[in-house]
Amino acid sequence: MTARIIDGSALSLRIRDDVARRVVELAKQGVRPGLAVVLVGDNPASQVYVRNKVMACEKAGLHSVKEQYPATMSEAELLQRIAVLNGDPTIHGILVQLPLPSHMDAHKVIEAIAPEKDVDGFHISNAGLLMTGQPLFRPCTPYGVMKMLESERVPLRGAEAVIVGASNIVGKPMAMLLLAAGATVTLCNSKTRDLRAQTRRADVLVVATGKPGIVTGDMIKPGAVVIDVGINRGEDGKLRGDVDFDSAVQVAGAITPVPGGVGPMTIAMLLVNTVEAAERLR
Ligand code: GUN
Repeated sequence: MTARIIDGSALSLRIRDDVARRVVELAKQGVRPGLAVVLVGDNPASQVYVRNKVMACEKAGLHSVKEQYPATMSEAELLQRIAVLNGDPTIHGILVQLPLPSHMDAHKVIEAIAPEKDVDGFHISNAGLLMTGQPLFRPCTPYGVMKMLESERVPLRGAEAVIVGASNIVGKPMAMLLLAAGATVTLCNSKTRDLRAQTRRADVLVVATGKPGIVTGDMIKPGAVVIDVGINRGEDGKLRGDVDFDSAVQVAGAITPVPGGVGPMTIAMLLVNTVEAAERLR
């Protein structure tokens, strides 16, 4: 038996339709949600992500501003731009695309964003709120994963959830959301001694490492729900996930494809967070 494919593209379109409806409601009150996306440097993947985010805003009727700066921009200049956006009443959400050039301290930059406009949910106060069970913004990728699990009616209470990759952007907030949903959570990292032993226990397996094919079918419990957060461009130009899809699809009960899985959900949840920010700030 092969796994059911979880269609993130289709679900993301439904969520974006709902966002567009909320934008119409806000317009009746004279509010147009605005997102500022800030990109520093010329990382090709970041450029694609930022373009997709801005396009999705426009389609849903949000106001969006793309600010692109050269890698030579100083940290002080970036902090100054963020201060201006913090005070701009037409901007409800601010996103600084990561990674930043190495001469910048990403923590310092993120901490400069007003927490009530931090639609990525990366600010320490938002991370703290999530950790203590009172989230203001859920980070977009883990939030999108939760929406996928919800739409597939995956039971989470008491489930064994294993996350591979412990980043601040995905792994750690993913752990908090799954924990809040009642799962027993294992968070694996690059030092995990026997990764296979961990992943084999998972009813829900989330893989977010940036290492293509790190999880193969033999590492998956038969029937498990497998969520592949990785987006890796191979030498052939094709996108691949962190999960070896061809072997995993033979074992899993349900699996997300790459592309067309988690990626479009991240963008949809960014729109949700931006509309929520505008609804709160209006
Ligand atoms: N780089 C990779 N993923 C993300 C994300 O979700 N937000 C931002 N700001 N940068 C990223």
